[in-house]
Amino acid sequence: MCGIVGYIGDQAAVNILIKGLQRLEYRGYDSAGIAVMENEKLAVFKKEGKVANLASQLNGNHLDATIGIGHTRWATHGAPSDKNAHPHISEDGKIALIHNGIIENYLTLKSELTAKGYHFRSETDTEVLVQFIADVHKNSSTSFAKSVQLALQRVVGAYGLVILNVDEPDQLIAVRKGSPLVIGRGSSANYIGSDASPFLEYTNEVTYLNDDEIAVVKRDTITLTNGKRGTLTPYFEHLDLELDAIEKGAFDHFMLKEIFEQPDRLLDCMRGRILAQSGNIKLGGISAYADKVYNAKRLIITACGTSYYAGLTAEYLFEDLCRIPVEVEYASEFRYRNPVLYPDDVLLAISQSGETADTLVAVDQAKASGSTVIGICNVVGSSIARATHEGIYTHAGPEIGVASTKAFTAQLIVLSMLAIKMASERHTIQESFRHQLILELQRVPALVEEVLAHADHIRSIAQKYWLASNFLYLGRGFQYPIAMEGALKLKEISYIHAEGYPAAEMKHGPIALIDAEMPIVVLALKDKAYDKVISNIEEIKSRHGKVIAIISEGDDAMKRQVDDYIEIPAVMEYFAPLVSVVPLQLLAYYIGVIKGCNVDQPRNLAKSVTVE
Ligand code: AGP
Ligand code: GLU
Repeated sequence: MCGIVGYIGDQAAVNILIKGLQRLEYRGYDSAGIAVMENEKLAVFKKEGKVANLASQLNGNHLDATIGIGHTRWATHGAPSDKNAHPHISEDGKIALIHNGIIENYLTLKSELTAKGYHFRSETDTEVLVQFIADVHKNSSTSFAKSVQLALQRVVGAYGLVILNVDEPDQLIAVRKGSPLVIGRGSSANYIGSDASPFLEYTNEVTYLNDDEIAVVKRDTITLTNGKRGTLTPYFEHLDLELDAIEKGAFDHFMLKEIFEQPDRLLDCMRGRILAQSGNIKLGGISAYADKVYNAKRLIITACGTSYYAGLTAEYLFEDLCRIPVEVEYASEFRYRNPVLYPDDVLLAISQSGETADTLVAVDQAKASGSTVIGICNVVGSSIARATHEGIYTHAGPEIGVASTKAFTAQLIVLSMLAIKMASERHTIQESFRHQLILELQRVPALVEEVLAHADHIRSIAQKYWLASNFLYLGRGFQYPIAMEGALKLKEISYIHAEGYPAAEMKHGPIALIDAEMPIVVLALKDKAYDKVISNIEEIKSRHGKVIAIISEGDDAMKRQVDDYIEIPAVMEYFAPLVSVVPLQLLAYYIGVIKGCNVDQPRNLAKSVTVE
């Protein structure tokens, strides 16, 4: 949700924190703040809006402090404002705290504290937490870290916290439950982040905090304890991430960079997994559970947002190629449905960030029912990647734009490889067909490259339609989830209302919306549904709707029928979603840019949604 950064070392903390917050701004961005320790006092700065506002408030001052914490907020409790921004400070001015997540019992704690005479300056759950910790510490004679642990025993909810206390001025406390925190080890300096991006330029040595662990981070040491298991030895790993992966380079926006990166990232995703000589697929990440996965009685796919649409697309693939029953479920609904799960079910949890709280809860639930749980995550070491039995990483590289693009297509590549592999293990496809599928999948990056060459044409279509206030997206079969995804992209980054629909369902309701003002994006490829989709287009045209069609290259008849078209190269129906989604990503991007929207950081959204 929000972004967290902490620093302790011998450099100017303010500079490291502000730069770190700018790198984290994609996660949440309605306000930002920092607290540094200066002359044994806290200096706190908070500002609504972008990190740049905060930076200009600081104006290059306070460079003496060498320890501090910073936060970009995605409001859950209380509107975005200076006073609700983090860090929040205890009433005695000694403790500063930043928080990612939600304290569910904050009202109970707040009334207890109010009865004791505490006052609150903000509407947040977070301020209640810092006052509560301060109160517990005041009434105990233990170290501050112990008091934090004690206080958290009463706290219900999800949190990633970093805390600074002027009475113990040479340390930061980091603790988590359900929200990610990672610690970076430098030389005479240590770092804390909600992910590694704020400190990647200083160190690649990282350790991930687990739930209920508490870290005391000093300049030269990191001490890790867990209430039940005592002191732990932190396990440091080397993060293989280059700085340019989290920078925009020559592109105007991260989203555009990420759309254009897709051919390379899709190749990365297949590299080493499709064996050139034998044409076999090797998915090392699930080798220990391979038998369970391939012999599953049923697949349940769960995810949110764009990742959910990857799951919906995969339903068509798995059912067709593997003849296995598949259910696709929004993770947020899965949990509340009291789902029926069996030990021979396999649950696939798809998540770019690997931190989506709804998906994480579904994973825990499926594990508790004895099912095998496989993660398909992009962020290495993320909570879902660690909570699942095994998994397959998408290797799309860091996705910074809030609207998911390359992570989606990489998810589809992973799901395609898994479906082909499963089909051959279950003997539901012929060997020669398996070979054909693999060859076709390997062509996809080049086909995506061909679509990207139409970017200028797609921009000119965006110029024509950007003033519309509603869009409809229609597709059938494999293209139905892509219609949903295209509509989601448009609404996220341009704030235009858009709905994705199965093309044939149009006549059961949405057709009432169609008039001469309504652009309708139709996925009209030469596949099984082609003739039927032509009829749907006729129905739209006879009501004067404007049709923007995604068509198969060279389909001249279709070109004459529609108002605008974008051609995509011929590709097997199974993998067509990987290619047809690309013009929809670009269309949404250009409309957002023409409308003057902040496409990388759309309003109200956050890159990883770590609250339920
Ligand atoms: C995609 O463009 C969205 N920002 C959003 O729907 C996202 O896909 C969803 O929140 C799931 O995130 P995850 O893949 O990180 O779990
Ligand atoms: N619940 C806290 C708030 O609203 C933290 C939100 C966040 O994760 O940014 O301030």
